[in-house]
Amino acid sequence: MNQPGLPQVPVAHAFEAPQSPAVGRAPILLLDGIRKSYNLGTPVETEVLHGISLALQEAEFVALKGPSGSGKSTLLNIIGLLEPPTAGRLSIGGQAAESLDDAALTRLRGATIGFVFQFHHLLPAFTALENVLLPSIIAQGTATPEAEAMARELLARVGLKGAEYKRPGELSGGMQQRVAIARALSLKPRLILADEPTGNLDTVSADEVFTLLREFNRDHGSACLIVTHDPRLAARCDRVIDLVDGRLR
Ligand SMILES: Nc1ncnc2c1ncn2[C@@H]1O[C@H](COP(=O)(O)OP(=O)(O)OP(=O)(O)O)[C@@H](O)[C@H]1O
Ligand SMILES: [Mg+2]
Repeated sequence: MNQPGLPQVPVAHAFEAPQSPAVGRAPILLLDGIRKSYNLGTPVETEVLHGISLALQEAEFVALKGPSGSGKSTLLNIIGLLEPPTAGRLSIGGQAAESLDDAALTRLRGATIGFVFQFHHLLPAFTALENVLLPSIIAQGTATPEAEAMARELLARVGLKGAEYKRPGELSGGMQQRVAIARALSLKPRLILADEPTGNLDTVSADEVFTLLREFNRDHGSACLIVTHDPRLAARCDRVIDLVDGRLR
């Protein structure tokens, strides 16, 4: 509220609404002053994230770009609740991460986040179908017929119909990455975090995978934060965030 006589001071708001079709929806992700240091308390202590504030709205589709070593994977791991920040606050779906213990963080991660890693981390002893079903088995204790139908549909949508019973070692790197994407989408997460998901795919496969993430975002309203170096793909996002030397540009 403005009182007469007081100077008009612009309020620096960390959580500005983005210019995208998702404007006006609730934030799925809020970051406030996130910092991350490695080797804390040692002579080689290094701060790699220097106070990141960011909001991602429900159903927003955002590209994260920046030079190698700028902290993109570190930031995604923190948002994915895989490692804690050194300072700052993070909330996902309205839940403040700092108020949760490890078990609650694991539950929040499983219920809300689908993570596509830079390196796929498939389990080599399991088939493609079993790998995609794993999140459902962990969440529900069993693979329901609905979960299996969804897993088969996702594998088909990433171009892997017929590869359901192949193990990761029998698939190319690009195919393995597509299994990892199907796995990340299997529980219809509200927030998809993807760390260079198309980095080791050829152009056609990269386009297909990107289109799949975009369709999933439209069909299910999943917000998506995707690390990409590809300007063509970044141009197809609602918004592009630039991380340089641990700071948002
Ligand atoms: N576990 C760790 N211990 C110490 N330093 C680390 C650790 N993980 C990352 N770093 C450092 O943090 C900085 C950011 O690394 P990060 O992997 O987040 O960058 P990136 O932007 O994802 O790079 P790329 O595009 O190559 O994947 C780098 O200087 C890296 O060496
Ligand atoms: Mg990285």
